[in-house]
Amino acid sequence: MKILGIETSCDETSAAIIEAKENANVTLLSNIVASSLSLHAKTGGIIPEVAAREQIKYIIPVIQQALKEAYGFPFDTIDTSLASDTFPIDAIAVTVGPGLIGSLLVGVETAKTLAYVWKKPLIPVNHLLGHIYANWITKKKVSKEEIKAFDTFDTPRFPCIALIVSGGHTDLVLMNNHGNIKWLGGTRDDAAGEALDKIGRLLNLPYPGGPIIEQLAQKGNPKAFHFPRPIIGSDDFDFSFSGLKTAVLREVKKNGSTMNYEPLTINNLCASVQQAITDVLIKKTIKAAQKYNVKSILLCGGVAANQALKKAFELNARRHNLNAEIFVPQKSLCTDNAAMIASAAFYNYKEVSVFEVTANPELYFD
Ligand code: KG4
Ligand code: ZN
Repeated sequence: MKILGIETSCDETSAAIIEAKENANVTLLSNIVASSLSLHAKTGGIIPEVAAREQIKYIIPVIQQALKEAYGFPFDTIDTSLASDTFPIDAIAVTVGPGLIGSLLVGVETAKTLAYVWKKPLIPVNHLLGHIYANWITKKKVSKEEIKAFDTFDTPRFPCIALIVSGGHTDLVLMNNHGNIKWLGGTRDDAAGEALDKIGRLLNLPYPGGPIIEQLAQKGNPKAFHFPRPIIGSDDFDFSFSGLKTAVLREVKKNGSTMNYEPLTINNLCASVQQAITDVLIKKTIKAAQKYNVKSILLCGGVAANQALKKAFELNARRHNLNAEIFVPQKSLCTDNAAMIASAAFYNYKEVSVFEVTANPELYFD
C-alpha cells in the first residue's frame, strides 16, 4: 500500500510517499520537508501567523515534489484524471493535531480537497502518534527496485514504551499493540525541547536551542555545573523542566551577562544542561520499561535527534540489564516530517469522511 502523508502542525510543511506492508518496515519513496525556520531564527521563536502564511505558499509545491521524487515524473495536483484507479497512491494521511491552528488548517484543508478530488480514503493522524511511528520506518537505503522484495522485520516489538520528546511535548506512553496506547505521564510545565530552546535563548545561542546545545556540549564538561533534576525521584512518570531554565537564568545573572563568559564556560553550561535533561528522561523511561517489562523502548520527537541522548539510553539499558531493544528514528525522521504521519496511518488505518475531518489543536492521547 502506498500512502501520501501531509504534515503542517508547526513550522514545517512536509509531504511524503511511503510504501508499507504488514509485518515489514515502512519504506520511503519520498519525504520532502520545507521549513520556515530561518524566518523564526530572527525572532528567536515561531510566530504562528508567519508560519501559516509560509505554509500556504509551500504546500502544493511540496506535495508535487514528493510525487515527482517518488514516481519520477511531475503530477499536476489539480488534474482530476488522477482519480483513476491507476493513480499510484492508495490513501492520504494528514496531521489533524495537536499543533498551531493556522498551520494545521493548511494541511488538513489541502488533504481534504485532494482526497475528494482524487477519490482517495483520508486518514486523520495524531501528530504525537506520528512521532512514535517514525520508529517503524526502515533506516536502510532501499532502491525502488528492491522495495517489492523488501520484507525484513526489524520493527519494534510489543509491549513497548515510547518517549516522545519534542519542542511541544514530553510524554511517556505504553503500547501493548498498534492502537492500544496508555499514557503514563508527561511534563507538568515545559517540554524538554522547549526548555532547550529557552535556555539557548538565555545563552544567546541561535534558535532552535537543541541542536546547538548538543554541538557545544560535545566540547564541555557535563559536571561543571550542577543543575536540578526536578521530580527525578517521584513515584509517577511525570517530568518538569521549567526549574532547570530558572537555574540557568540564576547562573547567568550571577555572572552579570552571557557576554562575560569564556566560550568554554558556555560549552560547560550546555553540557551540564543536556546532562540534567538526559538524566531525568532516562530515569523515568527505564523505570517504566522495568515496571511493564517491555521488549522495546522507542525514542522519538526532535530531541531524540540528540546523539548523546541516544548513546546514554543504550548505555543505561545495558547497565540495568534491560531486555528491551532501543529504537531511535534516523535524525531526519525525529524532527517533524510527513513520512511518520503516513507510517502511523498505515498501522492505525481508519478512513474518515472528508466532511468529518477537522483540525484539532488540542488533540492528545485518548
Ligand atoms: O519534533 P519537533 O521537530 O517539533 C515538535 O513537534 O515540537 O521538535 C523540535 C524540538 C526543538 O525544541 C529543538 O530544539 C529540538 O527538537 N531538537 C533537538 C535536536 N534537534 C532538534 N534537541 C536536542 N538535540 C538535537 N539534536
Ligand atoms: Zn513534532
